[in-house]
Amino acid sequence: MKSFSLVLLVVWPLFIAVNGWPNIRDAPSTTVDIQDGQTGTLMVLPPRQTDTGTKRVPDADHPFIAPGPNDMRGPCPAMNTLANHGYISRKYGVLLCFNYVLLILSRSGITSFEEIIRGTAEAFNIDRDMSSGMAALNLLTRGNPFVDKISIGGVSPFVPPLPGQIDGPETQGIAKHGRVEGDASMTRSDVHIGDNRNFNQTLWDMDLEQLAEFGDDGPDGPATVFNLQTLIELKRQNLESDQVLDPEFAIPIRRLNAVFGSNVTDTDSVASVFANGTTKQATKRIISSFFMNQTFPENWFRAAAPVLGSSIPGEITAALPQWVPGHNDENGVFVADPQPPAPFNISSGCANYWDTLVNAVPGTLADVTGIFKQNVDMLNGILFNASGCSELIAPAGPTNV
Ligand code: HEM
Repeated sequence: MKSFSLVLLVVWPLFIAVNGWPNIRDAPSTTVDIQDGQTGTLMVLPPRQTDTGTKRVPDADHPFIAPGPNDMRGPCPAMNTLANHGYISRKYGVLLCFNYVLLILSRSGITSFEEIIRGTAEAFNIDRDMSSGMAALNLLTRGNPFVDKISIGGVSPFVPPLPGQIDGPETQGIAKHGRVEGDASMTRSDVHIGDNRNFNQTLWDMDLEQLAEFGDDGPDGPATVFNLQTLIELKRQNLESDQVLDPEFAIPIRRLNAVFGSNVTDTDSVASVFANGTTKQATKRIISSFFMNQTFPENWFRAAAPVLGSSIPGEITAALPQWVPGHNDENGVFVADPQPPAPFNISSGCANYWDTLVNAVPGTLADVTGIFKQNVDMLNGILFNASGCSELIAPAGPTNV
């Protein structure tokens, strides 16, 4: 079942087969907890990185290896790039066969809470407060937080269903629509009208039309540097065209916040994460490398200081006030969603937390035990601490969706 992306051949006089697969980033368990045949892994927040300046990425230890046919890739250009370079999801195996030792490198697209935090810190200089929130959200919604594994694409045999199959017979991975993955993406179609997982050249060309009209001049030529106005117009276009084309278009508050770039994803990642750390420029060449080729651009440096987000999401929100959380009705008319109940309507961050826990995190996670409960509580605590809410919410979302 495993796909091996790169095989190196070394002569070795042996005839046996072994498979190492050291999982060096798994956190140590304090107690053994076996549920439904799975062994729990207690999640531990890794220490902050001490080296927080810019540096050239990738280093020699992280060459690009194209994914194999069974390697998982999905809608997130950052996760795909990190996996292609082995900053996450990097496994070694040794296969001894006849006179040869096969050293096997795999980039399966399966990762963990700790690995996401370490990988995004090392390659993108993302601050732990930011990366732990993104990891927590995705592990709670589309991963297996008992064994501490998540697929950055679709269903994988290496990520088992939750013990007792309390969220259905499969753990879906981040490409599954509805909980985090959503409409109005920059380079992926809405799920109801196309492929929501893979890069779409037509959509990217439409984004680049906005760059050609509003971008700044730069080393790649006139109008080739992404600026705030380009990002505003690009998001305006994504929202307007998908609302018209997608009969089931929906942007609940958790999705609208992401569309506007909260948590350094979407537009904010263009300016804060993917821009070259030395020039601070997000050029057409650089951004295309991440989105189209899912690889680091030539001569690229990570951000010069830990990334915690920028003012861009707020500025895009202010520039597009007509876009509020909502969805298309049966006639294709966009209608606003009701406000979250008090006290969760005090801020956009708190409303986001309410929407996530009530509509996206499966309610069955409220009743788990042992290491499973410890992990769920820690992840929920990370989201709560970042939310600005005064009340913790237990998971209450629909299951098996
Ligand atoms: C280094 C931090 C990250 C950056 C810079 C980043 C960047 C992005 C960008 C730019 C998109 C939008 C793609 C598009 O609109 O076409 C996206 C989508 C997505 N990312 Fe990430 N991401 C990061 C971390 C993560 C993590 C840790 C996860 C989960 C493990 C994740 C899961 C997703 C998902 C599910 C989507 C799909 C959302 C949609 O429907 O467009 N991301 N990300």
